[in-house]
Amino acid sequence: METLEDLAELVRNCTDCPLHGSRTNAVPGEGPANAEILFIGEGPGFHEDRQGRPFVGPAGNFLEELLQSIGMSRDQVYIANMVKCRPPNNRDPAPGEISACSKYLDRQIELINPLLIVTLGRFSMSRFLPGQSISRARGRLRPVGGRHIFPIMHPAAGLRRQEMRDAIEQDFAKVPGLLDVLRMQADPASAPAVRDEPAEYRAEPPTPSLWDMMSGEPPAVDARSQPPERPEEPAEPPVDEPPPGQQRLF
Ligand code: URA
Ligand code: SF4
Repeated sequence: METLEDLAELVRNCTDCPLHGSRTNAVPGEGPANAEILFIGEGPGFHEDRQGRPFVGPAGNFLEELLQSIGMSRDQVYIANMVKCRPPNNRDPAPGEISACSKYLDRQIELINPLLIVTLGRFSMSRFLPGQSISRARGRLRPVGGRHIFPIMHPAAGLRRQEMRDAIEQDFAKVPGLLDVLRMQADPASAPAVRDEPAEYRAEPPTPSLWDMMSGEPPAVDARSQPPERPEEPAEPPVDEPPPGQQRLF
């Protein structure tokens, strides 16, 4: 069976788009095959092209800091890119280059089968959420084609502007909670045991779930806490207007 290393070897020898002509090294991606999180960037930059490894320049240092801030390290996650060879002068990858290269990312996703895919920047977001704006889509978990996509801005943007840095840090801080929810969803047996609560507590409407909060959807409203839409009996008998000419006393 094909492995991630087989795939990396295909990438290193790939000449399927013009980017192969200007690369020093292709950058297939790296990380454990059983990683829970797959990060997808845009494409290799100068340092990545030199070393053949993803996110090893300044943006990579920031990504490592972000991982540390949630108690993780880069050897626990898989890091890949939309295109595996550096676009000259770090220009945007062209649509034809992205489509020529997408077969490799598709296979990486299948082989890793991650619990969570974090897209870094607009190019990788667009693969799953075409036509959406990153400033609106960022920081919310989105189910797409059976996968869980969490779009955030590209770490390189965080190096340029403090507001972007703040936004990326805020979004990143949601990742551990998302992972908890997704792990539980994937394996309900791993859920912590529920305490046997007194009956009077059980009648309370449930609080919004972590899932609702993380996915940014408005919390589901419990029907029991809402007034019925059409009460069977009006609460008060309707007050009729007095017939014309008749004095109303109260
Ligand atoms: N930026 C990316 O999008 N990918 C890298 O690997 C490095 C910088
Ligand atoms: Fe092949 Fe992708 Fe490199 Fe293009 S960018 S040459 S498709 S590996």
